[in-house]
Amino acid sequence: MAMKRTATSAIRAILANSTKSGLASPIFTRDLHASPGSKKIVGVFYKANEYASMNPNFVGCVENALGIREWLESQGHQYIVTDDKDGPDSELEKHIPDLHVLISTPFHPAYVTAERIKRAKNLQLLLTAGIGSDHIDLKAAAAAGLTVAEVTGSNVVSVAEDELMRILILMRNFLPGYHQVIQGEWNVAAIAYRAYDLEGKTIGTVGAGRIGRLLLQRLKPFNCNLLYHDRIRMDPELEKEIGAKYQEDLEKMLPQCDVVVINTPLTEKTKGMFNKELIAKMKKGVIIVNNARGAIMDTQAVVEGCSSGHIAGYGGDVWYPQPAPKDHPWRYMPNHAMTPHISGTTIDAQLRYAAGVKDMLDRYFKGEEFPPQHYIVKDGELAPQYR
Ligand SMILES: NC(=O)c1ccc[n+]([C@@H]2O[C@H](COP(=O)([O-])OP(=O)(O)OC[C@H]3O[C@@H](n4cnc5c(N)ncnc54)[C@H](O)[C@@H]3O)[C@@H](O)[C@H]2O)c1
Repeated sequence: MAMKRTATSAIRAILANSTKSGLASPIFTRDLHASPGSKKIVGVFYKANEYASMNPNFVGCVENALGIREWLESQGHQYIVTDDKDGPDSELEKHIPDLHVLISTPFHPAYVTAERIKRAKNLQLLLTAGIGSDHIDLKAAAAAGLTVAEVTGSNVVSVAEDELMRILILMRNFLPGYHQVIQGEWNVAAIAYRAYDLEGKTIGTVGAGRIGRLLLQRLKPFNCNLLYHDRIRMDPELEKEIGAKYQEDLEKMLPQCDVVVINTPLTEKTKGMFNKELIAKMKKGVIIVNNARGAIMDTQAVVEGCSSGHIAGYGGDVWYPQPAPKDHPWRYMPNHAMTPHISGTTIDAQLRYAAGVKDMLDRYFKGEEFPPQHYIVKDGELAPQYR
């Protein structure tokens, strides 16, 4: 992974690749030898403008650059930070040919395509400041012998709390009431005719990894009927403690749920998974919360479901692409509780993922391994959750 080991791990990656994935590998064109010394590190974050100086712990933005500029520069490394990430004239594009490390966040993702990887001849390490590295073409990264790592666990509490909030906002029909207040109106009936308690409802999470489990734990005191679907069943002790029932068959779980929450990564298997057919299997009047990734949904199927009333409410913070264009149809569909991608970038989360990135950079400079759960691509292999 790190400088000293780059050549060996890349060679292992070639072998792993050619024998396991059968991908055409561009790896032989890459310079496998990292020179010691100064590295060019590029960070892509969202810009904060006037908000940058409002909180000393607001480290996740361009201006505050994860709080690691001084540390990196004092060691002789070059650190370039930008929010300008898309298109051939972007700032990021200028640095693709000679950067060694690219740090990006899911909140303002630098889309790392196979084509960019091919041109990034010095690139060794792709770090995600947060969780979810689907903005990177992971197969291309593996084929090129790159290391991809994220700060696993860094914002799981932040996301689970946000999901609980969105479930309540939609179940209680909160947003129309809020808008009434701002617009000088008072119409209890217009809210109350479709506002419900959460107690007694059936809630199913699709994906019960770190975030899904935390959500189930937080839902327990609400006295709901909790279900979960995952590729892997939880340990029976934990299942009992959380009080959620395992549903091996997703299509059998969905018609039971008043609320469906999506908590899987975006992978080849989950991309567009919630299409018209799968949504049709859900209860009429279902609430869907998706803070996982926008592209897990078929965009148009969600719009149609919300417009027909089959989906009573859709909430989340993830879109495709990001930033969402002004004409993204989810902005204009009825009964949504959408925001920009914010759930995993609370100040607490920022401090955790900034510390995680700093720790991995430090290990990279020293030629040390990362915590194993952080690897998304290592030695030509994708982490299990992305296979
Ligand atoms: N909105 C945000 O700010 C934000 C922040 C963090 C994470 N996320 C998203 O949430 C996702 C989940 O995060 P996590 O920390 O819980 O990850 P995790 O790896 O701990 O859990 C993911 C779970 O999904 C399951 N899974 C994967 N593919 C599946 C499939 N096809 N069918 C059923 N289950 C499947 C896995 O078995 C695993 O249990 C991330 O990959 C990321 O996309 C969003």
